[in-house]
Amino acid sequence: MRIIAGTARGVRLGPVPNGVRPTSDRVREAVFNSLGQFFDGGEVLDLYAGTGALGIEALSRGYERAVFVEINNRAAGVVRENLVRAGFAERGEVLRGGVEGELERLVASGRKFHLIFADPPYRIPPKEIGDVVDRLAALLSPGGRAVIESRHPPVWDTDIMKGESRRYGGTFVTFLERSEEHLVKLAICPGSFDPITVGHVDVINRAAHIYDHVIVAVGKNVRKGPRLTVEERARLIGKVTGLMENVSVEIMDGLLVEFARERGATVVIKGLRAGSDFESEFQQSQLNRTLYPKFETVFIMAAAEHSFLSSSAVREIASYGGSVHGLVPDEILDIVQRLYVDGQAEKSNKG
Ligand code: PNS
Repeated sequence: MRIIAGTARGVRLGPVPNGVRPTSDRVREAVFNSLGQFFDGGEVLDLYAGTGALGIEALSRGYERAVFVEINNRAAGVVRENLVRAGFAERGEVLRGGVEGELERLVASGRKFHLIFADPPYRIPPKEIGDVVDRLAALLSPGGRAVIESRHPPVWDTDIMKGESRRYGGTFVTFLERSEEHLVKLAICPGSFDPITVGHVDVINRAAHIYDHVIVAVGKNVRKGPRLTVEERARLIGKVTGLMENVSVEIMDGLLVEFARERGATVVIKGLRAGSDFESEFQQSQLNRTLYPKFETVFIMAAAEHSFLSSSAVREIASYGGSVHGLVPDEILDIVQRLYVDGQAEKSNKG
């Protein structure tokens, strides 16, 4: 068996271990004819991996990373060996375990995949395969696809997955896609929020009217060296957004693009106050798109009455004991006055 196309085209895969039924070249070819020949990044999950031929073919054709699940010890070893043969040792992860248990762990860890292959042993009844299909919905990122190989077309319950089965000799291949109408339109609203101001709240509120769900992402290690810990900043935001039904608050420890990717989000909301914000926002949005091409930054223009307002101004006023009434939400006014007062002039001039 060889890799059919892509960067590892022609690489011969290791011998098929006993008890493993590899996907025939014809079916592999047909699968990639339907999915598209080449890909631009993304994560693939190969369940009942066997030799790993499907996941490795996907890596060769442009997927960035692959996770393989295989219960058979020898087969898991063959997958690892095949990854090395193809030059993809760094891009593949082999989980040795049963599909049910590994699916549970993957769902619990919040992992999302753009493509899932499942090639269960033919002895598994269609209903049981249908149960696996039902679980895959939680692991597919928006627009993600799953390909199931089976002796009989599977029967699944969830209407989140739409698809059709095609017959290739004695094998049915079922192509599924997470249907768009069930996708939650998710947006991330990132920032230092040191502290959250009424300007931020206005932007979050307006974003929450446009998107199904908004995650406020509080940067842990932000460039400016925040005065409050990330937990304190997140707590203040929680007090202010607690009544907004479709807004949640999370701590972001690392790159914004990774935070977004892990949550299956491609939209990030930023508030723009004046032209002076533009330079830095433009640069960040371009860099983020270089790191994650699907990433879109959507700007919401600050309300005129907030265009002068910044967290750094709030910090400076509060640090001298001045009143920040009207600049931060009433719910956190007392806490902000107390936490930021220290008589030290703020050095940073933006935020
Ligand atoms: O409120 P701020 O200070 O303008 O927010 C800046 C924030 C948190 C959005 C930015 O620092 C950020 O995205 N940090 C995460 C790390 C990251 O992805 N850096 C690369 C950005 S180009």
